[in-house]
Amino acid sequence: MADDTSVKPNTDDKQNDIAVIEMEHLKKSFETNQVLRDINMKVYKGENLVILGKSGTGKSVLIKCIVGLIDYDAGKLVIFGKDVAEQNQKELIEIRKRIGFLFQNSALYDSMTVRENLEFPLKRQLKKTPKDEIDKLVKEALDNVGLADTIDKMPSELSGGMRKRLGLARTLILKPEIMLYDEPTTGLDPITSREISKLIQEVQTKYDTSSIIITHDIECAKLTASRIVVLKDGICAAEGSYAELENSTDEWIKSFFFIINLDKFYERVIWKKELRIKSDWEYLLP
Ligand SMILES: Nc1ncnc2c1ncn2[C@@H]1O[C@H](COP(=O)(O)OP(=O)(O)O)[C@@H](O)[C@H]1O
Ligand SMILES: [Mg+2]
Repeated sequence: MADDTSVKPNTDDKQNDIAVIEMEHLKKSFETNQVLRDINMKVYKGENLVILGKSGTGKSVLIKCIVGLIDYDAGKLVIFGKDVAEQNQKELIEIRKRIGFLFQNSALYDSMTVRENLEFPLKRQLKKTPKDEIDKLVKEALDNVGLADTIDKMPSELSGGMRKRLGLARTLILKPEIMLYDEPTTGLDPITSREISKLIQEVQTKYDTSSIIITHDIECAKLTASRIVVLKDGICAAEGSYAELENSTDEWIKSFFFIINLDKFYERVIWKKELRIKSDWEYLLP
């Protein structure tokens, strides 16, 4: 199954839904490195589509093609019903304004306060918005990610999980219709990872977005996914709900889930060890 490039997402139960992103035979190579070989995928309105895949399988390349940070070589990319290849520069900008992208490092401005980090995109995109309206939007966005108390802090004063929340607030404040998350839980401890995964699920409902969540964190996938696509060798090698994939009898999917569960297990062991070392060390403090 994994090597069959004709495998397409099983969309039977979604036939009547609206696709906000459609990819047909999408290809992208870097010189001789064929990263995306033949991607066929749809993202439906209101769903959380998780893309799982090992490191280096082209997950970030795929998401960058969607926001136009990378040009694809061939195939078709349709966003909000519009073929990207047929849009002029101005039309592309309008499409991209409707898409939010949470970068892996949250891409915060470290010299600005939390408030200024949130005001910045608003002032740039909603140029004529009055100050009290901006204040209201900033407070609302911070409330929605559980950061109301941090408004006058600097990003450096925040924990990794809080920085991630701030990055999320800064993206959501522009009310995107599509949210793209690149490895939202990478580098976070297991408890914070779980909080962020739950938050992604919550904001999905609150802001009524359609999302792509790229991850190799199986727990994040379990907590956020309405549907999962597994990327392998430049194609969508498997598709289904978390339960369907976890219970799959396909040998390759079974081994994939086993390996990523094992990775997760080791990650937890490492985190636990670090936490223990930290608390032992703190024990020695006066
Ligand atoms: N700008 C680039 N130039 C050349 N090669 C790239 C570039 N971006 C990504 N690649 C290559 O594409 C492959 C997939 O990368 P990436 O999408 O970052 O993987 P991941 O699934 O871990 O997100 C890797 O082999 C990477 O080296
Ligand atoms: Mg990546």
